[in-house]
Amino acid sequence: MPVITGRQGGRSDGPAVKVENLTYIYSPGTPFEFAALEEISLEIMAGELYAVAGATGSGKSTLVQHFNGLLKPSAGRVSVLGLDTADRRVRSSLWREVGLVFQQPEQQVFAETIFDEVAFGPKNMGLSAQEVEERVCESLTRSGLNPAEVRDISPFALSGGQRRRVAIAGVLAMRPQVLVMDEPTAGLDPSGRRAVFDIIEGLRRERGVTVILVTHDMEEVARVATRMAVLCRGRLLKEGEPREVFTCLSEIREAGLDLPAAAAMMRALSEAGKPVRTDILTLDEAVEEIAGMIRK
Ligand SMILES: Nc1ncnc2c1ncn2[C@@H]1O[C@H](COP(=O)(O)OP(=O)(O)OP(=O)(O)O)[C@@H](O)[C@H]1O
Ligand SMILES: [Mg+2]
Repeated sequence: MPVITGRQGGRSDGPAVKVENLTYIYSPGTPFEFAALEEISLEIMAGELYAVAGATGSGKSTLVQHFNGLLKPSAGRVSVLGLDTADRRVRSSLWREVGLVFQQPEQQVFAETIFDEVAFGPKNMGLSAQEVEERVCESLTRSGLNPAEVRDISPFALSGGQRRRVAIAGVLAMRPQVLVMDEPTAGLDPSGRRAVFDIIEGLRRERGVTVILVTHDMEEVARVATRMAVLCRGRLLKEGEPREVFTCLSEIREAGLDLPAAAAMMRALSEAGKPVRTDILTLDEAVEEIAGMIRK
């Protein structure tokens, strides 16, 4: 059995995820054969908040499902926490270390009570009843739900947004070292979005968790990501720090994405001949830059 070291906040050195020339083909050898990923290489370091961006169908979900061993590369290599996911035993044990919050996780909630839903993972890890209890309470609280109030009710009695919190709590209860979230804020209201980012920030600060965030929302990426990948039709079009990536307008457009509003505004000002920087990411930075221009 491969041994996974560095649990519970211990950061291992080197990349948390290493992807080398990854190609993934759905339904190979059938008339439905489709190459969803082609020759992708990237590295995600421990403790990063790494964003995966791209238009619908660009391969984001396919890529991140390799990170917890759900998919096996058709070609190339994916190593997670130093372990090669080509090994079946690695793939079947990675769920303990890599939490994956699926796209629309509220649709996959299944248990009769919220307690049972969140306890499912920790119970499967063979933890004691007391430890399961502690983890369920902690992760419900972290997800913004009051354990005493919600534990015995059915997840189906909740709104979609609240049910998503339950699904997220179920993944957090595993205390993963790497947390992959596939469009966790899609369809949520602003307070729901903030709640998700509060969870992410808390986990990074307190446990040094590596977070991989799939998103269409470039404002989100600009605000929180340490680095980002831009996928386009199964290929990696661009990778780097958001500040750098968002200066590459033609690639952003080719990928079917938008610039963050602040970056777009500064670019428009620059094109109108105003002496402003274009590597601006947030509204605060834009305000400062424009104030500086006016003073001049
Ligand atoms: N099970 C499958 N069988 C065949 N093709 C698939 C399967 N799942 C996804 N695909 C195809 O692979 C491509 C990438 O899909 P994927 O779900 O990874 O995209 P995505 O970037 O996550 O899109 P979205 O933003 O809509 O979630 C799409 O063209 C999709 O139709
Ligand atoms: Mg997807």
